[in-house]
Amino acid sequence: MLDALSAPALPPVLRREDYRAPEWTVPETDLDFALDPSATRVRARLSVRRSGAHDAPLRLDGAGQVPLAVSVDGVAINDWRLEGETLVIPLSGDAHVVETEVEIAPDRNTQLMGLYASGGNLCTQCEAEGFRRITYFPDRPDVLSTYRVRMTADAARFPVLLANGDPVARGENGDGTHWAEWHDPFPKPSYLFALVAGKLAVNRSSFTTRSGREVELGIYVRAADLPRTEHAMHALKLSMAWDERVYGREYDLDVFNIVAVDDFNFGAMENKGLNIFNSRYILADPDTATDYDYDAIAAVVAHEYFHNWSGNRVTCRDWFQLSLKEGFTVYRDQGFSADQGSAAVKRIEDVRGLRAAQFPEDAGPLAHPIRPESYIEISNFYTATIYNKGAEVIRMMATILGPEAFRAGSDLYFDRFDGTAATCEDFVACMEEASGADLTQFRRWYSQAGTPRVSASLEHHAGSGRATLNLGQKVPDTPGQTGKAPQVLPLKVRLFGSETGRPLSEEQLVLLSEPSMSVTFETVTERPVVSLNRGFSAPVVIESDRTAADLAFLARTDDDPFARYEAMQQLMLDTLIAATVEGRADHDAVVAAVADTLDGATSGELDAAFVAEAVLLPSEAFVGDQLALVDPDAVFRAREGLRRDLGRRLEARWRQAYDTGAGEPYSYTPEAKGARRLRNVALGYLAASGAADAAQVAWRQFERADNMTDRQGALTTLVNGVSDEREAALDVFYNRYADNGLVLDKWFQTQALSSRDDTAALVAALAQHPDFTLANPNRARALVGAFGVNQRAFHTEGGAGYRWLADQLLALDALNPQTAAKLLPPLGRWRRFAPPRAALMRAELERIAGTPGISKDLFEQVSKSLE
Ligand code: PHE
Ligand code: ZN
Repeated sequence: MLDALSAPALPPVLRREDYRAPEWTVPETDLDFALDPSATRVRARLSVRRSGAHDAPLRLDGAGQVPLAVSVDGVAINDWRLEGETLVIPLSGDAHVVETEVEIAPDRNTQLMGLYASGGNLCTQCEAEGFRRITYFPDRPDVLSTYRVRMTADAARFPVLLANGDPVARGENGDGTHWAEWHDPFPKPSYLFALVAGKLAVNRSSFTTRSGREVELGIYVRAADLPRTEHAMHALKLSMAWDERVYGREYDLDVFNIVAVDDFNFGAMENKGLNIFNSRYILADPDTATDYDYDAIAAVVAHEYFHNWSGNRVTCRDWFQLSLKEGFTVYRDQGFSADQGSAAVKRIEDVRGLRAAQFPEDAGPLAHPIRPESYIEISNFYTATIYNKGAEVIRMMATILGPEAFRAGSDLYFDRFDGTAATCEDFVACMEEASGADLTQFRRWYSQAGTPRVSASLEHHAGSGRATLNLGQKVPDTPGQTGKAPQVLPLKVRLFGSETGRPLSEEQLVLLSEPSMSVTFETVTERPVVSLNRGFSAPVVIESDRTAADLAFLARTDDDPFARYEAMQQLMLDTLIAATVEGRADHDAVVAAVADTLDGATSGELDAAFVAEAVLLPSEAFVGDQLALVDPDAVFRAREGLRRDLGRRLEARWRQAYDTGAGEPYSYTPEAKGARRLRNVALGYLAASGAADAAQVAWRQFERADNMTDRQGALTTLVNGVSDEREAALDVFYNRYADNGLVLDKWFQTQALSSRDDTAALVAALAQHPDFTLANPNRARALVGAFGVNQRAFHTEGGAGYRWLADQLLALDALNPQTAAKLLPPLGRWRRFAPPRAALMRAELERIAGTPGISKDLFEQVSKSLE
């Protein structure tokens, strides 16, 4: 029997329906920091106001500290009390000034939430609930306050002192310390608070907004990294101009600062006027950053900048509305990136990302709607569902309403809710009001989890020239949600003639809103093939009756590049599933389609970046996701078999693709990026073919590369194999970049993603490497995170990978619960595997769940995974 007295209380579940408006507001906040890594004093002066008729006391959230002093209207009081970590202060009137003082220790803050130390500097991270670790405050996004911040610190150790808003004044104290004061005129929730103190160099520039405001831009990094900030600065200016042009949104302060830190739980943070970034999303030069890194930097810089409107000027009422700012802002940054290069390739990359991260989440134990109904720890809800599916939902609204009405809805939303904390419902209502559309049923995208499945079959009557497309939809059950209602699925469709290759219809937007429907096409004069869900207009799974020949036909002829890519993927996927299930498959159709596509690159009909995406096989994980139960070894064998066959049968073409553009000096243009991508894909296929010279070709590329894309591409190929070149390349790479943490992350990650048989053992050994540490989230993700998504290695027979991951998660949880919890999902997928794997995975989950003292972050993930 469980002893009720000693059993630890389960962490409480918070529910969306329990939302209540705040009882007290805080119009103004004055903060005074005496900064010191081991003992920082924080004095807070809050003007508080009673909201509505009630006699409830003021309740201020806190975490990890105790009040050293509390006063009301200038008089010290002692009738305050602590309820758990909440500071409760009885107040008699309707408006008071409440002051508190606390002491915190940033250098012992390993969670990286609140005020913490990174690389000798001090910085903050407050979203979602980190501000309460700095001072007592109603730490909820619907309490908006204007902040005045004063910082005092040792002038030699912390010469730079930054906070939100505009700088007001600064000075020396004559005792070796100095101070600075900042003021942010825009009311904001506490999660957008930020300060930075440290020894930092700055890349300064400026931007003039369309109404003529001069904005001073600064990117702060350690001095040695200054030359690596140009790309981010350029991306920032492009973002500022893009948001004016595309959304009519202008920047609103005189300064916009970015600070890069090495220790960061997420990618970056949109603190008002003072964005704080994981350094991996700022620092780039050709020698240390890949093309992928460059693109990610531009996307994240844009994302955080765009939050200034979608997130900061209009924020979220409560954390259940997180997708209001995140889904919309991801949609906005995707649009920005699409406008910088090839929109089709960008869409392909985004859909690949959605399928890699969000579809499995939606199909597993952690599935949740983009507006969740409940949570234990909000940090666990910064998910691919909230972000990426959230962006897809916004995209569908834009598709349904059309660009003008969508923009009008966006303008109305920003206008009406500026300076307030809004809800997802507010956003949808603005879209309805501006367009006249009825989005009642569309709203189910906000409340139902799960990836809808669409069935499609096409009938053609040659005599009447009529074709009928029969569509059906089903929204699968997810934990806590069964028997779901149909959703509105905007499907772009077009028919092509299988004989002439000509389009037989215009592109049409079909709104599938019933469980099933039929669409009729007239004057269909030859056997049609349907191009479906073009541009991935709805984030669904399509199950169609198209044959391998139909798919190969579309891969060759479709005029929508995304649909072309998609047809090829489906063809590959069907082939890989057959091979996995039956042990062998006919590769001919895939080989022919890949050959055609490569010829399209040679002839110049297709651009290299597109071809490189189109000829890549679906990942092992994605193939596994299609199966009733995943057999990781069978999937691996099937995929390697197809890779080998493609490599061998098209060897001449791969060599030709590889030689095209070889020796061109590095430049960062869409064309040069595409050429590098295709060359590296070709190198991978050459190696897969077993060509005798593959390791030498890769080594030559590794040695001669004048950029990281080619160097890492070669390293990846070598690391997948067994050769002297492999060992040499790993050594050279390590020694060359021993002092660059971001590049060492690549060194760890490349090995953790290796397709070698012994990867699980090699990864376990790497965890003992002197440069490995769980304390740095990037490093932890590079090894532990990458291993978790390496399907075959993680599922190595016997369960050693599961045990190792669980050990790492428990160790990491003690330091940094947020980051630990994020790395759990690979273990949680146990239901997708046959015994003995399922049982071994479950046993590790149970071991984690049974470990006393685990964080509520990890508890929520593990308990939901076991349910
Ligand atoms: N709000 C950040 C973003 O999406 C992400 C983030 C969340 C960063 C929580 C830190 C902590 O831009
Ligand atoms: Zn964001």
